[in-house]
Amino acid sequence: MGQLDGKVAIIAGAGQTAGEGIGNGRATALAFAREGARLVLASRSSGPLEDTRDAVRAEGFEAEIITADITSMDDCHAMAAAAMKAFGRIDVLHNNAAIGAFEGDSVNIQPEEWRQVMDINLNGAAFASKAVLPAMREQKSGCITHVGSIAAVAMYPIIAYKASKAALNEFTRWLAFENAKYGIRANVLQLGLIDTPLAIEGYHEATGTPREELRAQRAAQVPMGRMGTAWELAAAAVFLASDAASYISGAVLPLDGALATKIG
Ligand SMILES: NC(=O)c1ccc[n+]([C@@H]2O[C@H](COP(=O)([O-])OP(=O)(O)OC[C@H]3O[C@@H](n4cnc5c(N)ncnc54)[C@H](O)[C@@H]3O)[C@@H](O)[C@H]2O)c1
Repeated sequence: MGQLDGKVAIIAGAGQTAGEGIGNGRATALAFAREGARLVLASRSSGPLEDTRDAVRAEGFEAEIITADITSMDDCHAMAAAAMKAFGRIDVLHNNAAIGAFEGDSVNIQPEEWRQVMDINLNGAAFASKAVLPAMREQKSGCITHVGSIAAVAMYPIIAYKASKAALNEFTRWLAFENAKYGIRANVLQLGLIDTPLAIEGYHEATGTPREELRAQRAAQVPMGRMGTAWELAAAAVFLASDAASYISGAVLPLDGALATKIG
């Protein structure tokens, strides 16, 4: 028995940034498939998305894919419609899509970059949620999980990203409050420092710090003494999407090796 048997899940941001290891989107897709979910995988670039689908298929599972940019309301509607067409329902929206920008200081904010971060991390989360809610309300059940970040509450000099993830937490709490009467749950998985290609390559490019030095610096910040893995995020995402989490809604759940305990 899989924890997600019978469920239809959309994973937005299911491709992966190039680099060593596995990212959160791809690990979540594989974990959901292994637990029995039928999948619609979405991402804005088709190549990495096809690679995720192929990885799912290589394990003997099936997944539909759709190229969709969550900053486009039309694409979000198309993503929801793809799930309805393929499977007739939407039980889970797991939104992993996000980008970062390293400003370092408020005077370095680049307006276009700021807008792009907000557009994907916050507006996209709202648009993707809006697109799946009618089907979930009709079913009187559903689960929306947004992938957040400890940057929402900690002081990292990634300012647009921080602001977008802080707003995402409150948006998700609103979703939970407003949609509880429809049997829909909404939560944030608030990640700490995870060893993914996006994080390591992103910081490497922004700061020029060698990758191994970056990994060591990140691990040293965490009370557990190591970064998390995409598989640890995926396991929590499976739990939140499963019926075992049926009374959990409006939560901003830290997944950070106790990193947030260092704040205040
Ligand atoms: N890695 C970390 O240390 C860390 C820490 C905190 C939070 N997070 C969060 O984890 C998530 C990303 O995980 P990852 O680091 O493994 O990256 P990832 O490899 O899963 O890549 C993110 C995916 O999002 C997709 N995407 C980006 N913009 C999109 C858009 N507009 N529409 C559709 N898809 C889009 C990308 O194409 C890519 O497939 C993000 O929500 C990020 O904020 C990561």
